[in-house]
This record gives sequence, structure tokens and C-alpha cells, in this order.
Amino acid sequence: MRWAMILSGLGVAAMVAACAVQPETDGKVLFHDYCAGCHGESGVGDGPAAIGLARKPADLTRIAAKNGGVFPRVRVMSWIDGFTRAGKHGGQVMPVFDPLLTGPNVLIDTGGGVMTPTPVQLVALSDYVETLQRK
Ligand code: HEC
Repeated sequence: MRWAMILSGLGVAAMVAACAVQPETDGKVLFHDYCAGCHGESGVGDGPAAIGLARKPADLTRIAAKNGGVFPRVRVMSWIDGFTRAGKHGGQVMPVFDPLLTGPNVLIDTGGGVMTPTPVQLVALSDYVETLQRK
């Protein structure tokens, strides 16, 4: 019994280690896993979980259009990030997105040449949302 517990403990440790070494960095996969339930695969806000929400998920394909044609990368990342930290997004109590903030950081220009270490998955997600933009 005790060995079983130790072995399963090792299994969990190995899984955690594997996650730490290889975070998912494909923005499309991350979007599918974490966002599409509400925002829909195309980002327009028609995910299956949207029906039960008190607030309609934002149309993520219009973020640039609503911002004078410029995709506000940093704002989008802090939105997702805030979602994670506060556990709130769209006025809903949300699942915790901690996995998105673990893993390696990459340096990105957050404005005025200031290079800020940012979780690689946050960057991948934001970059993917940027590809969904339409006029
Ligand atoms: C449980 C449903 C739900 C999930 C899951 C969800 N969102 Fe949202 N999201 C919303 C709602 C609802 C709003 C609208 C909030 C508002 O209008 O105040 C929103 C708004 C946003 C906005 C602001 C858009 C704007 O125009 O200001 C961004 C960006 C966003 N979500 C990105 C994401 C990303 C990226 C993910 C995945 C990591 C995600 N969301 C997961 C429900 C969700």
C-alpha cells in the first residue's frame, strides 16, 4: 500500500516535471482548451458554454477593429492574465488558469522598448487571438 502511494506520487511528480519541460505553446490548441468553450472556435462568442452565461462572451475577432485597427497585444495578455489571477472574467467566477502562467517566460516588448518576461503560453494565446481578427 505504502509503495503504491509512493509510486503514484512519483507518477504525479513525473507528470508535473513533463509539463514543466514541455508546456503547450500552440496558441490554437490553447485557445481550443481554455477559451473556445465560451468564445467559440472562431472567437465570435458562440461557444457551447456561452448560453449559460449572464454575460455574452466578447467577440474576439473585433478587438483590433474596436481599437483603431491595432491589436492591443499587451491589453489582451493582461486580460487573460487577470482572468487567471482574480479568477474573474466577464463578471463570472471562472476556472483558475494557473497552468497558463507556469512554464518558461519569453521577453516581449510591452511598449516603448520595455522588455518584460511573459509566460510563453500567454504570448501564444494572444498571438493566436490576433490571427482571428477581421475588419
Ligand atoms: C466561461 C466563459 C469564458 C471563458 C472560458 C473565456 N472567456 Fe473571455 N470573455 C468571456 C466573457 C463573458 C467576456 C465579456 C466580458 C465583458 O464584456 O465584460 C469575455 C471577454 C474577453 C476579452 C475582452 C475582449 C474585449 O473586446 O474587450 C478577451 C480578450 C477574452 N475574453 C479572451 C479570452 C481568452 C484568450 C480566453 C481563454 C484563455 C477566454 N477569454 C476564456 C467569457 C469567457
